[in-house]
Amino acid sequence: MCDETLKPMPRIGDKAPEFKAVTTQGPINFPADYSGSWVILFSHPADFTPVCTSEFITFASLEQQFNQANCKLVGLSVDGLYSHIAWLRTIKEKIEYKGMKNVEVNFPLIEDITMNVAHLYGMLQPGESSTKAVRAVFFIDPKGIIRAIIYYPLSLGRNFDELYRVIIALQTADAFSIATPADWQPGDDVIVPTAGSCGVAKERMESKAEDIKCYDWFFCTKKIAKEKVLSTILKK
Ligand code: BEZ
Repeated sequence: MCDETLKPMPRIGDKAPEFKAVTTQGPINFPADYSGSWVILFSHPADFTPVCTSEFITFASLEQQFNQANCKLVGLSVDGLYSHIAWLRTIKEKIEYKGMKNVEVNFPLIEDITMNVAHLYGMLQPGESSTKAVRAVFFIDPKGIIRAIIYYPLSLGRNFDELYRVIIALQTADAFSIATPADWQPGDDVIVPTAGSCGVAKERMESKAEDIKCYDWFFCTKKIAKEKVLSTILKK
């Protein structure tokens, strides 16, 4: 077994592992080049495959929406640069999918024929495939810290509404010092952090503050208007 396979997989709260690589947009130094931005680093199993093609068309079509939320996109597979370039050209010139056509992929796609980055990020999961990366998604904050990770198997295309929701929810939690409940969307009530002591919790439960609703001492919510969330997070 080679050394790289023994590296521990990065976890939520870890610093994003550093690497330099060649991409379809030139060389990158990751995550340093993305300092100050959120970034989604995602892997796909292989170029010229159908699920991956549907995902790339969808992601590229949504790129501006992610950029408006100060989030950049970086893709990776263990294919080489010329394969990436040929695949992205085919996507632009030949594929129309769900009304999306002439789609240009302007975000970098990393070539990783050595599998160095795939190993570093735990994207190779031998129970699923030892030659192709799974569909991993790393959400990395402006300080280079991994804030969320989602893995999908080869056969399951990602839900891009969910990826966008995660970016908005993470930023909302940071901006307003709150947490977000199940299925949260901007405009829905948010969770007020649990108070440090029972006394404080009781006081809060009995509080007449109109914007706080308590279901029990450990579960209180408040409203943050959708416009307030979006105007805080999205670039004008
Ligand atoms: C696909 O993207 O369609 C795919 C890639 C690798 C294995 C299975 C499906």
